[in-house]
This record gives sequence, structure tokens and C-alpha cells, in this order.
Amino acid sequence: MAEDLTIIQGSKEEQYQALIPQIKALIEGETDLVANLANIVSALKEQFGWLWVGFYLVKGDQLVLGPFQGPVACTRINKGRGVCGSSWAKAETLIVPDVEKFPGHIACSSLSRSEIVIPLINNGTVWGILDVDSEHLDQFNETDKQYLEQITGLVIF
Ligand code: SME
Repeated sequence: MAEDLTIIQGSKEEQYQALIPQIKALIEGETDLVANLANIVSALKEQFGWLWVGFYLVKGDQLVLGPFQGPVACTRINKGRGVCGSSWAKAETLIVPDVEKFPGHIACSSLSRSEIVIPLINNGTVWGILDVDSEHLDQFNETDKQYLEQITGLVIF
């Protein structure tokens, strides 16, 4: 398998539509979870250039930092804390246009301005989350929610 990623210009939809088949090709046939999560965050970071893209995995009663790309980040987040812990507790995607207006937001990087968090759900149980941060306000919308949920749905836990 060639590991080259083709980066395209275009609308957000066009970028996701070009990226998703490449992510499928990267992870198909590979059963190792960390390897697949690592390639997904790399592909997203390469295509979109966001500040931070990464997974946190549920371990006991906390989210623990998993594969990511971007600045160093906090390693453990309690259930219900911050955007990530709230997405876990609610088992739903959260879009935060301005992190300063989200009560309890955890500022891993002072550069982060907006954020989207997608829960990873298997048989009704959240086993992790995908967190994406931007240094610009209001960077995420329903299009990101739709495609990022599609991408996280590709991961076999
Ligand atoms: N901002 C997140 C914490 C994780 S970092 O952004 C990587 C939150 O409030 O849960």
C-alpha cells in the first residue's frame, strides 16, 4: 500500500469527499487500533491544517490522551469536564464556535478558539472521542459534524 496522501483544494465538502476514501484505504486491513487512529489524525491534520487533531480514549473513569497531531496536550480529562468530557457524558457531538464562551472549557493550548468533539460509540457506549481545535473562531459546522462522524464510524473498536 502506498502511504501518500493526496491533498486537495476546494470546499469543505470537496475536501472531506476526497479524504474519506483515502482514510478508508489507510485503515482497511489494519486491525491495530492505535495505528488506525494515528493515521486518521495525520490525514485530517495534513488536509485541513487545523491547530490540533486527536483522540482521547476512555480508560476507567477518565479520557486519556491518544494519538494526536499538534501541540502537547493535557493527558487526562474527567467525565463531564470541558468540551471533551461533556461530549463523552452526553454521547453527542459538540460544536463550540467560541471556546471562551463554553463553561468549563479546558484550554490545553491558549491558541485554540473553536472546537468540535465527536464521541466514538460502540453498542451505545462511548469508548473515546475525536477532538479538533482551530486557532480561528467559528471554524466548525454541521458539515464537519456529518463527515467527522462518518470518519469516526469507520474505526472498528
Ligand atoms: N479543549 C478540550 C481539552 C482537550 S484539548 O483542546 C486538546 C476540552 O475542553 O475538553
